[in-house]
Amino acid sequence: MSDHRIGIVGLGVISRAYLETLQGAAGVRITAVADLDAQRAADVAAGLPGARALTPAELYADPEVDTVLNLTIPAAHDEVALAAIAAGKDVYGEKPLTATLEAAHTVVSAADAAGRRVGCAPDTVLGAGVQTARAAVEAGMIGQPVSATATWLSRGHEAWHPQPDFYYREGGGPLLDMGPYYLTALVQLLGPVAWVQGASSRARDTRTIATGPRAGESIPVEVETHVTGVLGHVGGALSTVTFSFDAVATRAEPIEVHGVDGMLVLPDPNHFSGAVHLRRAGSPESEELPVSAGYEDAARGVGLLDFVAGPGRASGDVALHVLDVMTSLLESAAAGERVSLGSTAVVPSPVPLTTRADWHGGAQA
Ligand SMILES: NC(=O)c1ccc[n+]([C@@H]2O[C@H](COP(=O)([O-])OP(=O)(O)OC[C@H]3O[C@@H](n4cnc5c(N)ncnc54)[C@H](O)[C@@H]3O)[C@@H](O)[C@H]2O)c1
Repeated sequence: MSDHRIGIVGLGVISRAYLETLQGAAGVRITAVADLDAQRAADVAAGLPGARALTPAELYADPEVDTVLNLTIPAAHDEVALAAIAAGKDVYGEKPLTATLEAAHTVVSAADAAGRRVGCAPDTVLGAGVQTARAAVEAGMIGQPVSATATWLSRGHEAWHPQPDFYYREGGGPLLDMGPYYLTALVQLLGPVAWVQGASSRARDTRTIATGPRAGESIPVEVETHVTGVLGHVGGALSTVTFSFDAVATRAEPIEVHGVDGMLVLPDPNHFSGAVHLRRAGSPESEELPVSAGYEDAARGVGLLDFVAGPGRASGDVALHVLDVMTSLLESAAAGERVSLGSTAVVPSPVPLTTRADWHGGAQA
């Protein structure tokens, strides 16, 4: 069978991780790259045998591209996805699916109408960490799940990202940026969400870039920078979540899941693996669970390989539902009222334990 041909649009910071995974992976080939910055595309293509530097418009129209990998900033996700779909391509993109829920519906509807597929990060939830925890929940190790906590707090990405503007514009903020990892994990563990109640705040109206050529420059803050709330899952469990760019650090566990017979502590869902700990009712100690499910030694891009192999667990439908959870939390925070969700999602099939040799199939990056 011939290789599935990938065209990448958006060649910034995260593109390096994808290039590392995709180069040499069995069954796929990067045939074209594009960016608004033509020099960036030329530089990347120069290091990628077989790939051509194109303009974005040329890439969408290119007959040598089957799937467009959309690694642009959130505000451009819908524009790029719609152009790719209109040109008859499948599209897999970085999170969040789009900057607004309305745009997400437009993208998913356009894909449905055109018979194209949409996939979306995060794919970290397909790794051994979240999948081992999910297997434990599904095996009844904590009994009936009752609640979960998900916590991510930091000082803000301007501390390390040289172009952090998008984190402080619509489609950014700690919730839309980091929420997808945690909330997609909660959907994997506890199922879709029926309603949310949120609260939010914004400590500062400007931020200062700390690194790169623009270090010292002040940028405006247009989004809420501390968001917290409760999610009511369809199955009845309640998750309490916190996301913040207004903290120095946290010592909270990234995710805990509590059931009537036990509790689970998950590793950072921004990573693919890490220890999962189980504490059973009546036991004074936690035990580390052996890895039992998920893509082992995974890296960004494994979700695209899963999507290419089909049907694609990092799906547009799950991403749309998670975006609905996030935008509804912000809407609830602004209104001071509980918001019922208009979307739901089918939890993708669990990932059986899969070695790197089996999911990557090619040379080690
Ligand atoms: N940086 C990270 O560590 C990280 C981690 C995980 C996910 N992500 C996600 O990846 C995406 C990209 O983040 P990044 O940090 O690489 O951003 P970045 O700003 O470093 O790179 C984005 C690139 O997209 C290009 N671009 C923007 N609009 C475009 C358009 N309409 N057409 C073609 N090119 C366009 C820009 O010129 C730039 O080269 C975001 O959705 C982000 O949430 C980033």
